[in-house]
Amino acid sequence: MEKLEGIRACVFDAYGTLFDVRAPMRKLAPEIGPHAEEISRLWRQKQLEYSWLRSLMGVHADFWHVTGDALDYALDQYGVSEPGIRDEILALYLKLDVYEEVADALAAVRAKGKLTAILSNGSPSMLDAAVRHAGLDKLFNMVLSVEDVGIYKPSRRVYRHAMQKLQIHETPSVCFVTSNTWDSHGAAQFGFQVVRVDRFGLKDDRLPGKPVALVKDLSELPGIV
Ligand code: LAC
Repeated sequence: MEKLEGIRACVFDAYGTLFDVRAPMRKLAPEIGPHAEEISRLWRQKQLEYSWLRSLMGVHADFWHVTGDALDYALDQYGVSEPGIRDEILALYLKLDVYEEVADALAAVRAKGKLTAILSNGSPSMLDAAVRHAGLDKLFNMVLSVEDVGIYKPSRRVYRHAMQKLQIHETPSVCFVTSNTWDSHGAAQFGFQVVRVDRFGLKDDRLPGKPVALVKDLSELPGIV
């Protein structure tokens, strides 16, 4: 894998990239029943759809609100209505499992003198909870939420916000890391050098912007930035 040139900062998507969004349903599958995996997938699909549609509609609500609405849809679709199950699932979303290679990869990237940041749809309180639970709080120079901008990724305004906060003026100086194909295209089209983490065996979407590298997990990142 060829090395990316001129990288000053590595900026990470959070959900699905650093944190395992499938963990809550996996852990509560005995209570949720036989459709737990389908509910988990539908929940994630609706969470992202609602973020994109709200951005297009110009009616913003934060990611905690959107995540709760999407969960309500998925549980309703599969007839899961046990009292308290919704709150139990959402509570786990604040304490998501971190992928096992993340902490070492972040430390190695920082040891190379790179800035590290999160750039996520997550609300500040969601991200703070997840980062602290995972013990990553000392491994980021900053944690950036779209709440500072009021619109969701892949809006260019969000990627631009990260450059402003990091005080970086050339887009190729940012290596953006995500497992979400739509996010990888949005960030690449904006001008970042994008590394897509292929955790789920997905193909690139037929969208503008192309990642410069595909990795299986973050352990490969220090060797290419
Ligand atoms: C995020 C979601 C979209 O962290 O993965 O922004």
